[in-house]
Amino acid sequence: MILIHTPAPREVAAYLDLFRTALPQHVFTDLEGLSRPEDVEYVITWGPPPGLFVGMSRLKGVFNLGAGVDRLLQRDDLAAEVPIYRLLDGGMAQQMVEYVRYGVLGYQRHMDIYRRQQTAGVWKMLPPRLPAAVRVGVLGLGEIGGQVARALAADGYRVQGWSRSAHTLPGILCHHGPTGLDTVLNESDVLVCVLPSTPQTRGLLDATRLARLPPGAMVINAGRGDLLDLDALQGLLESGHLRAAQLDVFPEEPLPPAHPLWRHPAVTITPHVAAITLRQEAVEQISANLRRLAEGSEPLGKVARTQGY
Ligand code: GLV
Repeated sequence: MILIHTPAPREVAAYLDLFRTALPQHVFTDLEGLSRPEDVEYVITWGPPPGLFVGMSRLKGVFNLGAGVDRLLQRDDLAAEVPIYRLLDGGMAQQMVEYVRYGVLGYQRHMDIYRRQQTAGVWKMLPPRLPAAVRVGVLGLGEIGGQVARALAADGYRVQGWSRSAHTLPGILCHHGPTGLDTVLNESDVLVCVLPSTPQTRGLLDATRLARLPPGAMVINAGRGDLLDLDALQGLLESGHLRAAQLDVFPEEPLPPAHPLWRHPAVTITPHVAAITLRQEAVEQISANLRRLAEGSEPLGKVARTQGY
C-alpha cells in the first residue's frame, strides 16, 4: 500500500487520482483511508507532520514531493535505513531561473531604486549598468543552481559559483570550500543562494560572511530560510551596506506578520513560491521510480542522508 500525504487535503485528492491512473496495479490511500500503518510500503509526501511514519514497520521508501528533503531528515519516526527519494528538477529549475533572473535583472536596471524614488515622487535617472558589469555569485550548483548559473551567464552577467563539492560548469568560475566561499562573497554584487538545508549549510550566511559582500550588493535567497541570518541581513540593509534583498524562504514559514522585514522598503518577500512542484511532473517521476523498484532496478534521486540532499 502507498500512502500519499501533504498538508493540503485537496492536493492529496488530486495526487490520489493521478497516481491511481498512472499505476493501477498499486493501492494508494490517504491518511484517512489507512487503518494499519504496517501495511504501508511507500509514502509519497511533502512536509510530513511529526509521527507520520510511526508504526510503518514494512516501509520500503519515501518519495519527497519536492527537491529539498530537510523535513525528512533527522526525525525520530523514520528509520535511517529507509531510502528517501527526492524530485529531480521536474520543471523546478526553470522556475528558479525565472525567479532569480527577475531579481538580478531588477538590480541591474535599478528597478528597486526607481520603485523607492516613485514612492517619493522623485524623477532621477541613474547611469545605465550593463549585465557584464554585474557580478553574480550562485551558492549551490546542483540540479537547480547549475541551471541558474548557466542561465545568468548566458544573459551576460559575470557569474561565479560555489558548492560543497567541486563542480565544473562551462563559462562559470566554480569555487568550493571555505576560501572559495569568501572569494565569491567578496566579489558578488548579487548573491544568489539556492543551497539545500544541511548541517553544513545551516547558518552559512551569518553576519561575518554577509558583511563580506561589496557595498550596494543584493541578496536573493531561494534555497532554505535557515541558511541566512535574517537579523544580520536586516542590520546590513539598515546600515546601507546592502541595497536590497529578495527572499522566498524563511526560518519560520509563514514569516510572522509582525516581522519587520515585511515592511522593509528594500526587501521583496514571496511565500516560498520560487520553484513549486509541478504535479504532473512529480507523478511521472515518482511513477517511473516505482516501476524501477518493481523491476528491481535503482530509482533516481536517492538522497545521501549524510550529505542532506
Ligand atoms: C521546495 O522548496 C522544494 O524543496 O521543492
